[in-house]
Amino acid sequence: MTNADFEKLVDTSDEWITTRTGIKERRIADDKMTSGDMAVEACRRALEMANCPREEIDLLVVGTVTPDYRLPSCACVVQEKLGLPNAVAFDVVAACAGFISGLSIASSFIESGAYKKILVVGTEKLSAFTNYKDRNTCVLFGDAAGAAVVAGDNGDRGILSTYLKSDGRMRPLLWAQVGGTANPYTPDFQFNGSDKIWMNGSDVFKVAVREMADAIRKVLDKAGVKASQISLVVPHQANIRIIEALAKRLKVDMSRVYRNIEMFGNTSAASVPLALDQANRAGMIKEGDYVAMVAFGGGLIWGAALVRW
Ligand code: ACO
Repeated sequence: MTNADFEKLVDTSDEWITTRTGIKERRIADDKMTSGDMAVEACRRALEMANCPREEIDLLVVGTVTPDYRLPSCACVVQEKLGLPNAVAFDVVAACAGFISGLSIASSFIESGAYKKILVVGTEKLSAFTNYKDRNTCVLFGDAAGAAVVAGDNGDRGILSTYLKSDGRMRPLLWAQVGGTANPYTPDFQFNGSDKIWMNGSDVFKVAVREMADAIRKVLDKAGVKASQISLVVPHQANIRIIEALAKRLKVDMSRVYRNIEMFGNTSAASVPLALDQANRAGMIKEGDYVAMVAFGGGLIWGAALVRW
């Protein structure tokens, strides 16, 4: 969907969307495609790139707030469709921080020796939870999936440090209120947007800038790495102004900050792995580079991961 498409739906303009968010287009999955279907495709390509047989995956972690069903997990659907006979599979509900949370879980499990080869996926069909009558939110979101194979390595490369934090007091800033056990659907439910994503954008914006910068500092400190040593920052793609403000706070030049928001919009848990994959396939990441990933989303929850490539 382009900005021109939204001009026909709500009172907005290409100029407003471009200058306030940096978004020009988003990808929308067709009616039949689920978050699980997108995750399967992303996993397939990740396994191929890692040259990893499916039998070797012993854990699958899926970050999503848009699962195929309420029960079972999206991860169990992906496990069946992809064919991972030796894995245990579960979801992580951490909105835009879903992939970073998955990476953190994977890193800890590998360190503990509990699992050896882990597939971490972020997948979202946000179009299914978007209120296309609300100009405050509908222009922001798109559908996508991204995946990574995480495995142990005895050298000095890999996930050096991760950091996660949440503050549930701020959950009314970004939520979908109806459809859970707090506010179940009733037989006379009439669409008014309450079961779709609602957000207080400007409040979320301020917390996002502050906490994402802090999260990156935390993972740098833990690993004893300086911001000047980062080759590439791969931030959650929610708003180009948030990304620019983050770069300014970290004193990292924008040439070292990956951006694809213009093409995809905000794809929640899929945002970071999608950006990481694009940067990698474009040859922007070399062996030995320090790559810092960071994300922020509904919960509110945020986190970062520092990787030596
Ligand atoms: N077109 C035109 N005008 C609009 C639109 C639109 N699409 N959307 C909002 N406006 C209007 C508002 O109604 C408001 O008008 P008013 O002053 O007459 O009331 C005006 O623009 C300014 O609104 P703000 O909300 O202050 O705009 P802001 O500059 O903050 O930008 C935005 C809004 C883009 C949502 C921004 O706040 C943002 O990106 N926030 C953070 C989003 C984020 O990081 N979310 C976390 C992850 S999402 C997840 O977890 C699923």
